[in-house]
This record gives sequence, structure tokens and C-alpha cells, in this order.
Amino acid sequence: MTDMLYTGISQLVTPRPGPQRGAAMRELTVLEDAALLVSGGRIRWVGRRADAPASAEERDLGGVAVVPGLVDPHTHAVWAGDRLADFEARVEGVPYETILARGGGIRSTMRATAAATRDGLVALARPRLQALRDSGATTVEVKSGYGLDFDAEVRMLEAVRELGSEFALLPTLLIHVPPTEGRAGYVRAVCEELIPDVARAGLAAAVDVFCEREAFTLEETRAMLQAAKAHGLATKLHADQFHTLGGTELACELGALSVDHLEASGPAQVAALAASNTVATVLPGVTLHLGLPAAPARALVDAGACVAVGTDLNPGSSPVFSSQLALALAVRLCGLTPAEALSACTVNAAAALGLSDRGALVPGARADFLALHSADWRDLAFALGANPVRGVYVGGQPLKE
Ligand code: NIG
Ligand code: FE
Repeated sequence: MTDMLYTGISQLVTPRPGPQRGAAMRELTVLEDAALLVSGGRIRWVGRRADAPASAEERDLGGVAVVPGLVDPHTHAVWAGDRLADFEARVEGVPYETILARGGGIRSTMRATAAATRDGLVALARPRLQALRDSGATTVEVKSGYGLDFDAEVRMLEAVRELGSEFALLPTLLIHVPPTEGRAGYVRAVCEELIPDVARAGLAAAVDVFCEREAFTLEETRAMLQAAKAHGLATKLHADQFHTLGGTELACELGALSVDHLEASGPAQVAALAASNTVATVLPGVTLHLGLPAAPARALVDAGACVAVGTDLNPGSSPVFSSQLALALAVRLCGLTPAEALSACTVNAAAALGLSDRGALVPGARADFLALHSADWRDLAFALGANPVRGVYVGGQPLKE
């Protein structure tokens, strides 16, 4: 494969490779008048343009900033139906949890999704993933969790697998809400049938559980995460969205890749995350759309935790179709600096997915990067509603230019 030297880079900006905790999240490398050599889908060399090795082909980006491709570590991009009536009801004052308790919310998306075919789900999810990519996401995690029964859960994961030929996706089996009757038997069947079947078929890299009053208890969550580990799957958790049930502490104890949401987390949860290798993933779209308190991202960074940011793209709590917007909202709503937000959306988001080969522009890493419209990388965190991302390069290939 031909080497390609990218030039015309006003600033090449990258966090250090690997998960960054605390103050290290702010320590970006900023190279002025830079160049980037790509070969075989990987970065071969990064440095000042004047020092660039001779290369067969050169592409001049025209004097713009280049940053790593964003990693979106938390989406529910596969769903059918809509929640527009719920949205209207919520705006008129009905809480999200009340809608769910009445059989609407997540449960209504489950009914619509269970009724859809695999091809139908693929067709619905494709433009959402395209929107995320246009906004700068070069790797995206996608959860199941809207299957009413196990067949529908597997169908969702098969849809993700199919879309994996077009996008770099990480599939997660999400155990979202229990059936209204027979929950003990359901949890047992998840542990003894669904998780082993999904692991055997290689349909998911991780298992996630929604630990919440209207969803699963701490003990149910523990049983399912332990089953995931026993079958060689990584674990993640939706925790502390409305109530602190101990999910964050459990995730840290079990060595989960990440614990996500954290809107209700307090000092004890911040301390648990700071003392663990579990990534704290915050989802500012939920704060915006549901009017929840912001997750304590500032306190988490100050305590030394590893913080990531995701869109949580879904039809109920976060209709955020832009990973760049999630980054920009994390600055406004969660108190991260632009530099911290870039680390949160790149290397730390990759760590939340167990990936170490992307998120930083260093030799050997995947050549996933973005060319902005602007010469100053901070436009990535500044823009709200306009897309500052001009070019998206995945494995060195321009997918948007
Ligand atoms: O991450 N909180 C639980 N699960 C999703 C919401 C999914 C939905 O409302 O459809 C979340 O917010
Ligand atoms: Fe979620």
C-alpha cells in the first residue's frame, strides 16, 4: 500500500496514548506546521513538516488542525419506532422514570424494535452511524437492549455485526429492563442462556446492565456481570443515573471497563472511580435532554479518575447524533476543559472499550484522524450546531473530505 504524507496541518493535536487520568488529561501535544505519514492504515511518523521523510504521495490539507478520530463509547444507535409523544409529555412535566414505570419509555422502544426485522434495523441505524461519523466518530460502541426477548436481542446484535462492514463498531449486549413478571427467571436465563450464547457466537465484546430502581437491582446486576466475566466478556454498567444503588462501586470492584451516566454520583462514587481503573463515562446529552444534574466530571478529573464522554445516542434520553456535540457539551455542562474533553473523547473513550490502538496520533496507532475546517483545534470544542469537522479519515482512508 502506498505511503501517504499528509501536510498542510496548522496544528496536529493529540493526547498521549493510553488512558489518561486526572491532570494528564490536559497534557496534549500540539505540533505547529506538522505532517503525518500513513502507511497500511497505520500512522508511521508524526512531526514537523520540515522534518518529514520523503514519501511517494503527498496530500496537502490546506492549513487546518488535525486531531485524532473521536471514539464514541456509548450509543444505543439501533432502535425502531420513536418516543416523540414521551418527549412532549416530558416537556410538559412527566418524569422519564414515571413514563418508564407506566410501560412507556424504554419499554415502548422495545415493542417497536422487537417487531422490526434485522434488515429493517440495519436500515434505521445506518444514517445514525453516518451522522456520528460525519461529526468525527471513527469508532462507535453500539448496544443492544431493546429486544423484548432473547431472539430480538440477538437480532439487534446481528444488525450491529452487519453494519460492522461499513463502520468500526464495538457491540455490547445490554440487559436493559426486566420483564414486568418473572424477573428472577429472566435474570437466571440471561446468565445461563443469553450471555453464553452471545459469547459463543462472538456477537458482543462486553455486557452492560442498567442498574437502577426501574431496572435491575444491585444483586441482579452482580449476577449478570459475573456471568459475563465467566464467559470471557468485558463488563460495563449504566449506574447512578437517577439513584446511587451501589452500581459504581460494584463496577469498580469487578474491574468493569467503564461505568456510565453518574448524574447522581457523589463523593463516595468519585472516590471509588479515582481509586480504580474503571473509566467514568459521562453523557452530557442526557443532562441536556432530561434536565438531569450533570455528572461530576470536574470532580472526577480533579480526584484523578479517567473520564470519557459519549453521546448515549438513543430515542429517549439523549437524541444526540453528533460525537463532536457531546464533546462540546461536556465542556459546557460537565466543566471539562477543551483539552480534557479531547482526551475524554479519544484515548479515554477507547479505554472504555478496551482498545489501546487508537485515540492518539502516534506511530503504530490506527490512522483514524480528523481534519477540521479551522486552523485552531479548539473549534472542535467551541462549535454548537455547526460541524467543525471537515475530513474524516479511518485507517488512513478518507471517508469524508
Ligand atoms: O443510557 N438509562 C438507560 N438507558 C438509556 C436510555 C435508553 C432509552 O431511554 O431508550 C440511557 O440513558
Ligand atoms: Fe445508555
